[in-house]
Amino acid sequence: NRVRINELLQRPEAGGEVTIHGWVRTCRHSKGFSFLEINDGSIIHNIQCVVDADVPNYDRDVKALQTGASVRVTGRLVDSPGKGQRFEIQAKDVHVYGNAEGYPLQKKGHTMEFLRSIAHLRARSNTFGAVLRVRNVMARAIHDFFQSRGFVYLHTPIITASDCEGAGEMFRVTTLDAGDPPRAEGEIDFAQDFFGKPTSLTVSGQLSAETAALALSDVYTFGPTFRAENSNTTRHLAEFWMVEPECAFFDLDDDVALAEAFLKHIFSTVLSECPDDMDFFNKRIDKTAIETLRHIVESPFERMSYSDAIEILSKSGKSFEFPIEWGLDLQSEHERYLTEEHVKRPLVLTDYPRDIKAFYMRQNDDGKTVAAMDVLVPKIGEIIGGSQREERLDRLQERMKEMGLPEEDYWWYLDTRKFGTAPHAGFGLGFERTIQFCTGMANIRDVIPFPRTPGSAEF
Ligand code: 4AD
Ligand code: MG
Repeated sequence: NRVRINELLQRPEAGGEVTIHGWVRTCRHSKGFSFLEINDGSIIHNIQCVVDADVPNYDRDVKALQTGASVRVTGRLVDSPGKGQRFEIQAKDVHVYGNAEGYPLQKKGHTMEFLRSIAHLRARSNTFGAVLRVRNVMARAIHDFFQSRGFVYLHTPIITASDCEGAGEMFRVTTLDAGDPPRAEGEIDFAQDFFGKPTSLTVSGQLSAETAALALSDVYTFGPTFRAENSNTTRHLAEFWMVEPECAFFDLDDDVALAEAFLKHIFSTVLSECPDDMDFFNKRIDKTAIETLRHIVESPFERMSYSDAIEILSKSGKSFEFPIEWGLDLQSEHERYLTEEHVKRPLVLTDYPRDIKAFYMRQNDDGKTVAAMDVLVPKIGEIIGGSQREERLDRLQERMKEMGLPEEDYWWYLDTRKFGTAPHAGFGLGFERTIQFCTGMANIRDVIPFPRTPGSAEF
């Protein structure tokens, strides 16, 4: 007979006996009664419980209650005379599971930095409760989007021998082979013996997804990926979740259209399914959060080529910290100028110089650019990176040779181009950056339960 607080608050009317379980957010003890604000994480709102001094264990348990304690409360659901809440519980019975002496998460506003230092408790704060609920709804929206379009959810390996992005930003897999004396420097590692070659944590499931797309037509991955890059920014994690659709018989235009429909589906789902949490973000974190999402859902994305973007940036008259010219990768200040000052909405940039992009991207006829596309959004910058893939065996081999990638290591990937190759395209969406964008949370460390960044792997 445990009811969740969200279910209670959505009832059409008061009445009846209810039992709730949760954690005390605040308590006020007056002469003869106590007010408890209880939250169970099912919704951002608390329910107030009024406990009269005549409940049996009042003096021993209720009066001693502190913020953070866990309780079970049974009582009548009544209309609340207080402002801003429909119902309250007139308690008949209060059971205390555990009090919370010295609880670090007292009521008053804590900094995000402080909350990060107690990541094991921060889900009990309003902000992180809301983040985790929105994150969950977004994950479901992602699966719904692809499942309703007949995509197959593919589980790609986390341990891999290939560097998909070719950026050398991989975490090497090794073992602690217990019992043996520690191995000397340079001595072959057990994990390398085990797999027969050096392995790492994957930076992207794309290469595996391509093999599946060239059999099942439409697939997607949704899993953790790892990057040993300098993650000391507000938009980089060493461990983050990526969503990677891959579609056969798809070109770059199809890919761009899929990305736009996909993002709009996620944003409109968040708006319709997370009204209370989005209200909270809109009031407390980013005053434009809801309006921004609504606007994006309703209007088409802007699209331009990398070359046009460079021209706009050069003519902008802005003095950037990193000067930009054709051939250089965009820095976040450039992405932000384009999305925040130039188009003021999501921007799809296409046809990047091939020398700043990965080996698998399809080469354009100009000999200089590839059929790449990135989706940039205001405040965050890049949230999607994708491309049409090079499906022509000879062009792919040529490019790999130029980039010094040994064919022996990619024989299985090349096989897909030898046996029934087909045009195909896909992209990767950074899940945490997308959550940041929806919620307005400033730091990516605050939209994942336990962030992995340089110097931080506790919890
Ligand atoms: O642009 P990226 O590197 O693309 C790929 O990995 C392709 N293989 C994807 C594909 O085509 N299937 O990464 C994709 C997205 C970025 O746009 C960004 O949103 C996110 O992943 N991302 C990160 N998010 C958090 N922390 C990091 N260190 C990230 N690196 C990339
Ligand atoms: Mg990218």
